[in-house]
Amino acid sequence: MNKNRTLGEFIIENQKHYQATSGEFSRLLSAIKLAAKIVSHKINKAGLIDIVGYSGSTNIQGEDQQKLDIYTNDVFINAITNREVVCGVVSEENDDFIILNDNALHNKYVVLIDPLDGSSNIDVNVPVGTIFSIYKRVTPIGTPVKKEDFLQKGNKQVAAGYIIYGTSTMLVFTTGNGVNGFTLNPAIGSFYLSHSDIKIPSNGNIYSVNEGNYYHFPQGIKEYLKYCQEVKAGVAYTARYIGSMVADFHRNMIKGGIYMYPNCNANYQGKLRLLYECNPIAFITEQAGGKAISGLQRVLDMQPLEIHERSPFYCGSIKMVEKLESFL
Ligand code: AHG
Ligand code: MN
Ligand code: MN
Ligand code: MN
Repeated sequence: MNKNRTLGEFIIENQKHYQATSGEFSRLLSAIKLAAKIVSHKINKAGLIDIVGYSGSTNIQGEDQQKLDIYTNDVFINAITNREVVCGVVSEENDDFIILNDNALHNKYVVLIDPLDGSSNIDVNVPVGTIFSIYKRVTPIGTPVKKEDFLQKGNKQVAAGYIIYGTSTMLVFTTGNGVNGFTLNPAIGSFYLSHSDIKIPSNGNIYSVNEGNYYHFPQGIKEYLKYCQEVKAGVAYTARYIGSMVADFHRNMIKGGIYMYPNCNANYQGKLRLLYECNPIAFITEQAGGKAISGLQRVLDMQPLEIHERSPFYCGSIKMVEKLESFL
């Protein structure tokens, strides 16, 4: 594989797949790329500067916001809005959707983001991520965006991706034409194509779930977990759970595995947010040959009703997800 190909070159070469004529979509990807570099640089210095710990505020979902939640939110929103490439944004850290006016009214894309995934891991030097999802607006160009521009089914996504700030920083995304991963060379400040056309192994031996919630899981999930742990599964299953979905998903995508965040009594709809956590990861999962469900339904076919709504989420290697389904 030619590892000298930069993300910038890749975007230009693949413009034909983006069904874009104005260059707007390429500029949007480029804005995300810039924000990723700024955040990566900051996170690498997290222990040295006053960026770890609580900010003292909470978001609309009642979660304590970390300083880095707010910082990453500002960086991504500024990068996207300064380049005037979208007409609206939804973020985990903003109560309502953001309407961009003036020149931005003529842009056709909306972006939905989880600026920092895995907030609870910042202080302990464990990988965190950013997740993004991109749609074309459904309301007329030239008018302010409305809620329905954001409440589209996941199968309407134009693109989705994530950045993982791990041992190296990677940007992984799909535009509906396979999944590609780019690794940041921090010395040069460029992302290089390091993982082209990523495919999730059809089977695997890793299961990832917060088993601390076991008592509250639906019966079918409890039985599936028992299956994973019994020797009769025929393979040695192993449990791996970081607590940053991006990092848990990334590992399972490369090695083969299943990620689960079931509904439980405490979080009866599950914990993960459909629009900016489940849908983008589900799109990537399917593009990499895997499967993503909310229980009995394909995640990408769910009709969202609220911008911060939650959903149970199961994704990963197709055979493992199908096995799980047989327990539901
Ligand atoms: P966020 O940090 O964006 O609020 O997301 C937290 C999510 C996800 O990243 C992670 O996998 C999951 O919450 C962990 O939840 P538990 O601590 O309940 O396992
Ligand atoms: Mn959060
Ligand atoms: Mn998250
Ligand atoms: Mn977050």
